[in-house]
Amino acid sequence: MGASGLSMSALNGKHILLGVTGGIAAYKAAELTRQLKSRGAEMRVVMTEAAQAFVAPLTFQALSGNPVATHLLDPVEESAMGHIALARWAELVLIAPATADFIARLRAGLAGDLLSALCLASEAPLILAPAMNRAMWANPATQDNVRVLRERGIRLLGPEEGEQACGETGPGRMLEPVELCEALEGSFGDGSLAGLSVLITAGPTREPLDAVRYLSNRSSGKMGYALARAAADAGARVTLISGPVALMPPPGVEFVAVETAAEMHVAVLSRVHESDIYIGAAAVADYRPAEVAQAKIKKTAASLNLELTRTEDILAAVAGLSPRPFTVGFAAETDRLEDYARGKLAAKNLDMIAANWVGRPQGGFDRDENSLHVFWPDGERELPLADKSRIAIQLIELIAERFHAQDTTENPR
Ligand code: C5P
Repeated sequence: MGASGLSMSALNGKHILLGVTGGIAAYKAAELTRQLKSRGAEMRVVMTEAAQAFVAPLTFQALSGNPVATHLLDPVEESAMGHIALARWAELVLIAPATADFIARLRAGLAGDLLSALCLASEAPLILAPAMNRAMWANPATQDNVRVLRERGIRLLGPEEGEQACGETGPGRMLEPVELCEALEGSFGDGSLAGLSVLITAGPTREPLDAVRYLSNRSSGKMGYALARAAADAGARVTLISGPVALMPPPGVEFVAVETAAEMHVAVLSRVHESDIYIGAAAVADYRPAEVAQAKIKKTAASLNLELTRTEDILAAVAGLSPRPFTVGFAAETDRLEDYARGKLAAKNLDMIAANWVGRPQGGFDRDENSLHVFWPDGERELPLADKSRIAIQLIELIAERFHAQDTTENPR
């Protein structure tokens, strides 16, 4: 779990080189420096010239407790801690915010400024927290750069969806400092899910009624997508099987688009045997129209009865396999949350269930925030209301904890 402030953080004593590039999110990097430092990290900050137009080096000097490096060929800086020495000093290099321009430089291997030169010279893991306008992020040039960097083993944290400084809304926001700190804590060591395969379903399903209509639900897919990203950040190989949503799949995640519950069922069962962990976060339709009209149904009758039949219970099917992955379900309830969640945990023979209230003012379907009450056969934990990306990081850590605990108790699944 993330540092509570009481237990020692995994960042304690670690040498973190924070590179700040020139975007408006640079102001958040100041708070990030403070939080990393309060978790015990030794901080050195390097700023590009453009970053200094947003925040003064003095701010970072005060927060990090060390001089801020800004120039590649500065004789004073080079004699104090030259760029090669700084590159060697770092146990981890974090670029936050990482602009589109800086990402392009990294891809090209440029070394004409101090931070680019450091990234090229350092053998420490490099992590980027991109922040930019949503169109710049979605641009094929940026997406291509990101793909290549990931193939080289560079990790990305974020960006997330949300309001942007330019007034637009979409993917491109830098993760919040606390989320970056929590993700970084998981990145010392190999990541809590290193070497594991995780299969995640997300979003709603659409059950066709006729040539143009379907039955569906309000699921936005945000929780499942956040989980896919958090699992990838924790070092897992992730496959995301998703119903139709308006989100971009997180980078580095294998993505499978489906529409109906039946398609999702097939997609899951053909991949689940390779998975160590299955997370059913999709809001799978429980019923589908018994017949799908080939043409559009005409409004001739005064009333229309629809006959519905049950869909496959994908989660129960996965939990019924032998051998089977560590199986996690979701339960969205409007009442008696704990009773129903514990009932499903037992009835579907799950390893864990994450329950949330729906139909209440906060959290749940189609919201950016959520709170979860998580149950497993001999325990439970509440994850209080927070951004879905933060809740996802916490849930992934909890899943990793329970997964590894089962591994060591010879509990055959
Ligand atoms: O029983 P209920 O639908 O409330 O259970 C919710 C959980 O079951 C979710 O994890 C959901 O993804 C999964 N589910 C499923 N297949 C269905 C219905 C629900 O995998 N047909």
